[in-house]
Amino acid sequence: MRAIDIIEKKRDGYALTKDEIEYLIQGFTKDEIPDYKMAAWAMAVFFTGMTPQETADLTMVIAHTGEVLDLSGIGKPAVDKHSTGGVGDKTSLVVGPVVAACGLAVGKMSGHGLGFTGGTLDKLESIPGYRTNLTSGEFLRQLETIGLVISGQSADLAPADGKLYALRDVTGTIPSIPLIASSIMSKKIAAGALAVVLDVKVGKGAFLERLESARELAELMVSIGEHSGRRVVALLSDMNQPLGYAVGNTLELIEAIDTLHNEGPGDFTEHCLVISAHMLVLGGIVTSVQEGRSLVAEKLEDGSAWERFIEMVKYQGGEIKYVEEPNLLPDAQVIEVVEAAQTGYLSGINARLVGETAVLLGAGRSRKNELVDHAVGIAVFRKVGDQIQKGEQLFKIHARSEEAMAEARHRLLKAITWSDSQIDPLPLFYEVISS
Ligand code: URA
Repeated sequence: MRAIDIIEKKRDGYALTKDEIEYLIQGFTKDEIPDYKMAAWAMAVFFTGMTPQETADLTMVIAHTGEVLDLSGIGKPAVDKHSTGGVGDKTSLVVGPVVAACGLAVGKMSGHGLGFTGGTLDKLESIPGYRTNLTSGEFLRQLETIGLVISGQSADLAPADGKLYALRDVTGTIPSIPLIASSIMSKKIAAGALAVVLDVKVGKGAFLERLESARELAELMVSIGEHSGRRVVALLSDMNQPLGYAVGNTLELIEAIDTLHNEGPGDFTEHCLVISAHMLVLGGIVTSVQEGRSLVAEKLEDGSAWERFIEMVKYQGGEIKYVEEPNLLPDAQVIEVVEAAQTGYLSGINARLVGETAVLLGAGRSRKNELVDHAVGIAVFRKVGDQIQKGEQLFKIHARSEEAMAEARHRLLKAITWSDSQIDPLPLFYEVISS
């Protein structure tokens, strides 16, 4: 077999066999196929696509370039969740503990933020001491002992994905639906879960802005799940405006802590209730989303979800005093409120611009391995559809310098749009897709 023949076959729009895909991915992982050939192949996929069968084959081949965890020995059903990435999306910090408190095991391998979307690991790393670099042995042991772990992706899992993702990132081939689907699902399969809830974000603050593209991605991932014997449900959720109020690592951690105390923002709490309820249905704890929702609400109210969170933080080396008293966490040097300059209805809060402003403040990274400033960020106080009087608080900016503050203020005012007439609030979810 030769890589050039496989690249040309894909360029001309033909479907590849599993053997051809295996040859390419294995060769690339072992550095036998160079980056330029792999980039040409990725671009051919970008333009000509892949069949569902090819995408499922690609997923399985990538998943098996490393270790595939076996969670059958942990003593309870394990359910995973994955978000395609958004602004203010701190869902895993709440959903993990609450679902674990309901009796399932949640072992989640998360990522750092890249671009304008935040990452779960950056939020957890706001807790001094919290370790996100567990080995797969530590990951499995913690899952078995306390039924909950949120860590980074272990290097032994789906190594081809890390390599291919880095190449796609610099060759304009990230926004290919089959490549995104296989990238996400290969990691989920390697992490061992037999049931996965996918939170596919759609809107200005997401990878995919159009509902049709998000639906296509969701359907493809659900079908890969089916091909690989996993139970997968995908929810299409809104990402036109930030989720909750907080954007930025420490601010989001504090909002997740408030939510675990049942004192979180309404939209974010509801989002967590729905995602968790679907996880409980997939894990066989309840038979309906309605029933799951009630159980989750109970676990937030009676403090058991919070106890699980504390247990996880302790196990992973985090200093508990900072989550018990979040006001001890370091805050930014310059903090200012931005007020509304007019009266009217909020017709838009561009989540992408808010996310980009948070990155500019230092909350995110524009390059892999850049250090983030955990303290900086933005509180977005209002939601689309709210009626606002001139002078009311719109944002609170946490910055590390006066210059960053001035730039952030300028950008955030551009992120909002106004209407004189009443505007409907945005929905939280659009669709649920299952096999
Ligand atoms: N997230 C992933 O893990 N992979 C992609 O390709 C895109 C988003």
